[in-house]
Amino acid sequence: MGRVGALVLAAGKGTRMKGSLSKVMLPVLGEPMLYYPLRALSEAGIKDIAVVVGWGGEAVESYLASRWPDVAVLWQREQLGTGHALMVAEPWWASLDELLVLPGDVPLVGADVLEALSRRHMDEMTEATFLTMTLDDPSGYGRVIQVDGRVRIVEDKDASQAERSIQEVNSGIYAFNAASLADLIHRLDNDNAQKEYYLTDVVRLLSADGKRVAVLNWPDPEELMGVNDPVQLAQAAVMLRDRLLYRWMKEFGLKCLDPNSVWIGPEVSFEEDVWIDPWVELWGKSSIGGGSRIASFTVIRNSKLGSGVQVRGHVVMEDSVVGDGAAIGPFAHLRNGAEVGEGAHVGKFVEIKNSTIAHGSKVPHLSYIGDAVIGEETNIGAGTITCNFDGRRKHQTRIGDRCFVGSDTMLVAPVSLGDDSYTGAGSVITRDVPEGALAIARARQRNLKGWAKKKKEEER
Ligand code: UD1
Ligand code: CA
Repeated sequence: MGRVGALVLAAGKGTRMKGSLSKVMLPVLGEPMLYYPLRALSEAGIKDIAVVVGWGGEAVESYLASRWPDVAVLWQREQLGTGHALMVAEPWWASLDELLVLPGDVPLVGADVLEALSRRHMDEMTEATFLTMTLDDPSGYGRVIQVDGRVRIVEDKDASQAERSIQEVNSGIYAFNAASLADLIHRLDNDNAQKEYYLTDVVRLLSADGKRVAVLNWPDPEELMGVNDPVQLAQAAVMLRDRLLYRWMKEFGLKCLDPNSVWIGPEVSFEEDVWIDPWVELWGKSSIGGGSRIASFTVIRNSKLGSGVQVRGHVVMEDSVVGDGAAIGPFAHLRNGAEVGEGAHVGKFVEIKNSTIAHGSKVPHLSYIGDAVIGEETNIGAGTITCNFDGRRKHQTRIGDRCFVGSDTMLVAPVSLGDDSYTGAGSVITRDVPEGALAIARARQRNLKGWAKKKKEEER
């Protein structure tokens, strides 16, 4: 079948978004819109991929460099239309046999659609095959006109009253024979309402020349939906969310009391039998172990939860790891490489930053643990704080196994507590505590007998 490549068109301004960011960089479930067609292409096994960038292209280019390093970037400095984008990109695609073209603004497109398009194109050996959909409201889209075996696409702005009532529209996704495309791409003109070089005119030219052009009408228009304005952006995110959620429910037994208030990004993964309460957001490359439960008002980003983890609600977690059977929250914040071991407990109003808490240890209430290493089976009393910052630099706190840190202990880093050591409540610990010792660092209590009575007499 020769060499197949794909060109994603993403140079347009996206005027209807009224924003400063390139439209394809707008987030849909936490990933730029452009992520979705690229993922569909790679799932369909297509390796030669290029993106045409232009308006706001620097941001697109740096996203591609960091997340899709194998994807080529082609600049279209002036955006003179979709046909012009193909002309500019010709040196890249000229050596291919078959070329898929799709816009960057179709976040619901799946590999199945692209595979079906390719298959139809190959099976019927057409010069061009393109995907269409039939819409109740076709406004804005190019209409597909088929008369006497000839096919052409008329843009909304160029269409007559009669043509506007046609409900079959162009999705903007095509498969071309590259040689045939090269033969006529330079015949395009911009003699139309938008003064643009339309890629859609290629279809008319091929068909008029008697070449084979196939139209593949896709039964599920949602999958081909183009996102042009903020309303469609919100609608696309909801549709995509529902699709992802229902797949996890069916295949992995994910359970949600209210799927409408749960938001899950496309890179999140689950093991079986996870429960999610209303108003939960899971983003980035997060993974949730089997049998875990995530209670309401929790936001988890780029974090890994083991199996049987209890997230008790109102938890914010970023770049963190939680071991099997651990319990977190309510009202906890884990960030910057927090690692909570198996069966450990991080409780109410606790912040854990860049710290490791080994298995079975507990930080149950009102603590800040930053730049610390805590051993196994250690208990951190309520109100304990690691004073990790001296105003200039961050320092480490080390706490051993089976320690008992009394409530309201201030651990002034760098400092370490040996295994089996204790601190008295309210201590300010500035020196290392040896293994097995009790450290008390607070003023000794004095009780002044009869003091209150004496004070009252003085005031009289
Ligand atoms: C286009 C099609 C229309 C189709 C619709 C589907 C044309 C002329 N029309 O219209 O038939 O129904 O898509 O959504 O092709 N782009 C560039 N360079 C340019 C202009 C656009 O790269 O100079 C990119 C845009 O970034 C976008 C894609 O091409 O990703 C489509 O452009 P857009 O302006 O959205 O075209 P539509 O008017 O939606
Ligand atoms: Ca569009």
